[in-house]
Amino acid sequence: MQTGYIETTSGVVPPPILRAENVRKTYRRNGISTEVLKGVDFSVNHGEFVSIVGASGSGKSTLLHLMGTLDSPDAGAIWLGDRRIDNLPGRERDKLRNGRFGFIFQFYHLLPELTAVENVLAPELVASSVWQWPFRKKAATRRAEELLERVGLGHRKHHRPREMSGGEMQRTAIARAIMTRPGILFADEPTGNLDEAAGAEIMALLRELNRADGLTVLMVTHNMEMANTTDRIVRLASGRIDPTRQPVQPVHSLSRPPESGRMEYAYRGVG
Ligand SMILES: Nc1ncnc2c1ncn2[C@@H]1O[C@H](COP(=O)(O)OP(=O)(O)OP(=O)(O)O)[C@@H](O)[C@H]1O
Ligand SMILES: [Mg+2]
Repeated sequence: MQTGYIETTSGVVPPPILRAENVRKTYRRNGISTEVLKGVDFSVNHGEFVSIVGASGSGKSTLLHLMGTLDSPDAGAIWLGDRRIDNLPGRERDKLRNGRFGFIFQFYHLLPELTAVENVLAPELVASSVWQWPFRKKAATRRAEELLERVGLGHRKHHRPREMSGGEMQRTAIARAIMTRPGILFADEPTGNLDEAAGAEIMALLRELNRADGLTVLMVTHNMEMANTTDRIVRLASGRIDPTRQPVQPVHSLSRPPESGRMEYAYRGVG
């Protein structure tokens, strides 16, 4: 079983803990400045499933992108464990992102010309050099097929996105996101385009990956019912994490005792 610990050539290193420290972000376009994040302090513990909520335009996607190094803050810092990651040179940042982070989005972002299994393979192909690929392809394809089976798409391996339902496309995107065995999954409104049943299936799948594999999940959502099933909810308001929420026990502590070191605190009853 995967634990979320990262194996390197020098052995096993401590689990990733992601932290935003006094993060600020202002967008400037056509002479207009939009100050979106005004000093956000926020951290995610290893193995947590955290949701970020807040009004449309409050900066949820912006924060998720900054924490996932898809964009850079104007001030402040992002830490992965004790490593500062917001100011890495481009190539190092890409390597970190491709190896340690997975991403899923509301509109799946699958490549339309590729089949499900080819889409899932894509990150491995990108991570591999041209000369390595012929040697890696067979094992990678097997893993991609196993992941599709795991997300319940064993019967859709050779379908293209237009031949799949929204839920199936999102499950393909999840399989792709975990192809390179990331420690942290960033999910921006992963159920936002799905009906209730398909959305609940995606949430169940994310929770299963979180519990069984120790995958840390940071999810943006507008759906409070879904947010309430996660370990902790944080709300963005006026460019900051809403400080009025008091730490309480995690929602899941009643049904499942947290593993040691997990879920130090949670916010309850927002929305
Ligand atoms: N690249 C950009 N250039 C200029 N302004 C931007 C850019 N990206 C986001 N913004 C602005 O920043 C603000 C926050 O955007 P963001 O996408 O983070 O909000 P959000 O909370 O994710 O909203 P939603 O719930 O609608 O997805 C919005 O006012 C948006 O218009
Ligand atoms: Mg958004």
